[in-house]
Amino acid sequence: MTLPDPQFNTMGTLQHFIDLQGLDATILTQILDTAEGFTGVNDRKIRQVPLMRGKTVANLFFENSTRTRTAFELATKRLSADILNVDLVTSSTSKGESLLDTLNVLEALQCDMFIVRHSDSGAAHFIARHVSPEINIINGGDGQHSHPTQGMLDMFTIRRHKGDFSKLCVVIIGDIKHSRVARSDIAALVTLGAGEIRVVGPRTLMPADIESLGVVIYPTVESALKDADVIMGLRLQKERMKSATVPSAGEFYRTYGLSPERLKLAKPDALVMHPGPTNRGVEIAGSVADGKQSVILEQVTYGIAIRMAVMSIVMGNSQAMQSAIARNQDNTSIEVTS
Ligand code: CP
Repeated sequence: MTLPDPQFNTMGTLQHFIDLQGLDATILTQILDTAEGFTGVNDRKIRQVPLMRGKTVANLFFENSTRTRTAFELATKRLSADILNVDLVTSSTSKGESLLDTLNVLEALQCDMFIVRHSDSGAAHFIARHVSPEINIINGGDGQHSHPTQGMLDMFTIRRHKGDFSKLCVVIIGDIKHSRVARSDIAALVTLGAGEIRVVGPRTLMPADIESLGVVIYPTVESALKDADVIMGLRLQKERMKSATVPSAGEFYRTYGLSPERLKLAKPDALVMHPGPTNRGVEIAGSVADGKQSVILEQVTYGIAIRMAVMSIVMGNSQAMQSAIARNQDNTSIEVTS
């Protein structure tokens, strides 16, 4: 038996944002278009809109983060909501409190939305199935499974620079196997109709099922980069590796590193992307990361607008759902009392 997608409420709108797999092009485009509107907020004198005034968002990061956690915090503040950065190192999880008990405590403290990063693939799905129906869950990265807001900010960056996805050749290089970003990017690129998606990396770091997702495996970085429009580098995600099947940093750079010489094989206006954190001299040369084709820091900036878009959309859907329930209850009580 397949369970219904927990991202959708009974009205069929997005209640949670957990995985790009299963979301259609209409939803992805709505997020991109909404984020486009929010980019202007960053340039205003008062960088705030009142869309989530009175709401409380809890940042629950069970794994380290710089970009995602801070971008969610800024997005929350720009939407005029309160943010609670739960310090999990000093929280009662260290005394053995379970994940669900921690969430129950935060629900009792009247949090409305949880941003969750966790090392276990499926953690965000699990939480979404257990919280109260009015709560929104946003996945800030779960294990090697999914990083949907990173996927969307990558699509936003590409669309801003290149427009139409159908003409693009996108190359993803490196540790595909342990990369939740690669999975989210591939899902979004396929849904948005990218012309060609190529992946290349060590055989030990290539998932067995990857071609079934709609990508083509290339044997060498040189062949993969030929005529590419977009190049995405990925770091070796050692924290998720269980065995020593990885080349050394030097070996990896020699075979797969995005060097200035290799970059010349792509189109002259190819975008250089990386979700970060970057390891210079391993998956990418410092001069390429800082070079004129690099949009790595733009990706970080667009992360605020994308997160504002996702948060306001799920919150709006949730409020519409609660209003519909309340209307229904009113009608029912009128029927009963009349
Ligand atoms: N891209 C990304 O998830 O970066 P952080 O780990 O710094 O959040």
